[in-house]
Amino acid sequence: MSHLTIARTRVDLQSQLKIWRNGGKKIALVPTMGALHSGHLTLVELAKQHADHVVTSIFVNPTQFGPSEDLARYPRQEAEDCAKLRAIDCELLYAPSVDELYPEGFQTRIEPGAIAQRLEGSFRPHFFSGVATVVAKLFLQVGPDVAIFGEKDWQQVQVVSSMVKDLDIPVTIVTAPTIRDSDGLALSSRNAYLNPDERALAPHLKAALDHLATQIRTEPTAFEASVEATKRDLLKAGFSAIDYLECCHSTTLAPWQQGDPARILVAAWLGKTRLIDNISID
Ligand code: PAJ
Repeated sequence: MSHLTIARTRVDLQSQLKIWRNGGKKIALVPTMGALHSGHLTLVELAKQHADHVVTSIFVNPTQFGPSEDLARYPRQEAEDCAKLRAIDCELLYAPSVDELYPEGFQTRIEPGAIAQRLEGSFRPHFFSGVATVVAKLFLQVGPDVAIFGEKDWQQVQVVSSMVKDLDIPVTIVTAPTIRDSDGLALSSRNAYLNPDERALAPHLKAALDHLATQIRTEPTAFEASVEATKRDLLKAGFSAIDYLECCHSTTLAPWQQGDPARILVAAWLGKTRLIDNISID
């Protein structure tokens, strides 16, 4: 187990980073909102393969939560998170306060384009602007060579990748596959909100995606009917609402047309908990 340095301010962060940079070392950043689970930890493990030093950030970013969303009750468990990071030899945690990242007078936001308007964006209008703004700040503060993001948040990866390209940010984005529980449920900090009945229903989501993917592969021309049937099945299984279930072009996220690389993305509610997931169908 290694020593974990915790930087709370940009100044502390940069004094550590300077030492590494002067030694010509490659730095990776893993941005998170904490309540770390094995999905997050695999990003850190992957980061180690791409760089000499890894910075994990934990910041529950208020600008990506809507007024009626779960900012106040989002799980915060820094002591446990630190123990998990120590156990996998992460050397540096950047855990700034809200005032450190958004001091009085803060007024600039990044507005991603069309890729951020659909799917998550149409249900959470400020979400990707908040994500892009905080990720851009973290990129500028850390200056990583590589940054690791999970495929669990597929649209987020596309939004961040297009921001990096459009704004010429000198960082390589590396993605990591979704880590799931043995029953298929994608790990998420928000799974902690599920009661036992909801937790028992939750794996239906991945099962429905797998089934739909098989149907689309077998009968691509009938994909719209298959999508509608899957929505009905999820509601019948006990999901309370489906924000979206769509088959999309895997990188532009435009509605899928035959021949496009394809990804199915879903957001569905189990009681008061919103689950998102996605799979490739290629
Ligand atoms: P958070 O939800 O904490 O996720 C941090 C990173 O972990 C993201 O890249 C996410 O895709 C990845 N991740 C979450 N669950 C995963 C799983 N089951 N398997 C693999 N990777 C998983 O995403 C955010 O935080 C925020 O929007 C952030 C990028 C930090 C900006 O605030």
